[in-house]
Amino acid sequence: MRVLVTGGAGYIGSHVVKKLGEQGHIACTFDNLSTGNRWAVLYGDIIVDDLNNMEAIRRTVRAFRPDAVIHFAAAIVVPESVADPLKYYANNTANTLNLLRVLQEEKIGMFIFSSTAAVYGMPEQMPIDELAPLAPINPYGTSKMMTELILRDMAAVNSSFRYVALRYFNVAGADPKAQIGQAYAAATHLITRGLKTAKGFSARLQIFGTDYDTPDGTCIRDYIHVDDLADAHLLALKSLADGRKSDIFNCGYGHGFSVREVVTVIRDVTGIPFLVEETGRRAGDPAQLVADSTKLRKVLGWQPLYDDLSFIVKTAWEWEKKLS
Ligand code: UFG
Repeated sequence: MRVLVTGGAGYIGSHVVKKLGEQGHIACTFDNLSTGNRWAVLYGDIIVDDLNNMEAIRRTVRAFRPDAVIHFAAAIVVPESVADPLKYYANNTANTLNLLRVLQEEKIGMFIFSSTAAVYGMPEQMPIDELAPLAPINPYGTSKMMTELILRDMAAVNSSFRYVALRYFNVAGADPKAQIGQAYAAATHLITRGLKTAKGFSARLQIFGTDYDTPDGTCIRDYIHVDDLADAHLLALKSLADGRKSDIFNCGYGHGFSVREVVTVIRDVTGIPFLVEETGRRAGDPAQLVADSTKLRKVLGWQPLYDDLSFIVKTAWEWEKKLS
């Protein structure tokens, strides 16, 4: 298939582009390189432009004629979204609308959307299945929820448009061959921050909040290896190509680790007993997010290979050591 990948130079997008290339698809990346890197795009062309530029989207779609679009390009940092909500509504919601307008005009009928567990807010039931109410507690989650609703309404009136929204839990790790990985120096994610601390880039890792209603007081997250998540995209693409209906799937393994448990694994894997500082809560953090991914396994036949936090951290560490 010919697949247009927005954000294909970014962390998750580049892993999906790699898999598309390995499986014989033709990928074209559209990326503004604000957080992505040209070298991370291992297959296909890259168009460097922004989704706020509808003319550029139109030109790209007309020239490439994709069968399907996988849409990663977005801003993704929860605390930043609390501080600068308009950036999130512009980047994640309004820019997606630009893309969808062009896809509607050009009659492109298959769409895969990077959604997030943040659409659930602070869910009462754990693990979370796809029927849990959407109640985001930060602008990041709201910006993604709004896009999901736009997709729902668009598909409802346009039978030749189908989509899959994948709700990612906490994506981590790197390509097991260490060709690509997260390469954003200002990354805020726990595992990346922990590894950078182990490398000596900062004096200590902060733990944001130790008074949550969890067994050890720190937040619990479901960490999923980026390659297993990439597989979910390829399965979603196949399901649409096979004529399946629009759908939504949680992407996680179904069990969580606390921040303290993650710190222990990072120290074990790196062999570096870096310092930790316990500080107050970070704005916008729910106590616990664990996926019920039964639907992804049953309906799309997802069979993850790397459900092992030590392996996830090890691949991220191998990659991190390659960065300067
Ligand atoms: N944390 C620390 N110290 C750090 C960084 C993070 O204690 O230096 C804590 C956070 O407070 C949180 C946990 O580690 O409790 C995980 O934080 P991340 O920043 O790694 O990830 P988030 O859970 O905030 O968000 C990620 C993605 C979102 C997605 C969410 C869904 O960035 O896109 O997972 O679970 F919505």
